Amino acid sequence: MGEIRTERLVLREYREGDAARISEIANNKKIANNMVDTFPYPFLLEDVEKWAKIVSNSENCDKNFVVVFEGEIIGGVGFKLEEGFREGVVAGGFWFGEDYWGRGFATEVLNAIVDYIFENFDVRRISAGTFSWNSSAAKVLKKCGFSKEGCRENAVIRFGKVCDEYLYGLLKCEWEVLNDRID
Ligand SMILES: CC(C)(COP(=O)(O)OP(=O)(O)OC[C@H]1O[C@@H](n2cnc3c(N)ncnc32)[C@H](O)[C@@H]1OP(=O)(O)O)[C@@H](O)C(=O)NCCC(=O)NCCS
Repeated sequence: MGEIRTERLVLREYREGDAARISEIANNKKIANNMVDTFPYPFLLEDVEKWAKIVSNSENCDKNFVVVFEGEIIGGVGFKLEEGFREGVVAGGFWFGEDYWGRGFATEVLNAIVDYIFENFDVRRISAGTFSWNSSAAKVLKKCGFSKEGCRENAVIRFGKVCDEYLYGLLKCEWEVLNDRID
């Protein structure tokens, strides 16, 4: 898998030796609060190592990236190609260490990963969901061209708190128009 480079960031595959740094910044309930169950809290070294085994196999390694800023890992982004009746759809997630919030990194990464997905995979749609208390993720999705398509009321329980789930989507045809990619 190649790297993805943006103005300030490098998105690269997981390497042995990354686990300690990932655990250091990912072991944060404020992050886990907004993520699905595969992102646990606490997020200890052994949890990162378990996760690394999954993302390092050849089928997954081009779909999971660590995000590097000035030589240091600051977050992660990953996606999954859906199968069966959802073939052609991608779902994914992203997170950043708290020290790096509010500097436009998520927007930069999401824009890059959306381009990577539509340019490299046969995908017609990217789906995303946010928990209703996560205003910053909602803002990032909107800034990257996603539309809010609906709300599943009371669909989520995370660490004992119930909330709604907001559903977002970006279609390939919308991305082409946004990026002036229509021949
Ligand atoms: C959500 C998250 C990825 C955003 O990362 P980030 O690098 O801070 O995002 P950006 O800086 O690109 O953009 C965040 C936007 O939200 C805004 N924002 C931040 N806190 C906010 C709040 N409480 N309410 C509304 N907007 C908020 C910022 O001002 C910014 O918008 P702007 O550029 O128009 O000013 C990061 O906070 C995170 O990792 N959170 C925990 C995990 C998570 O939520 N992952 C996404 C799951 S869907």
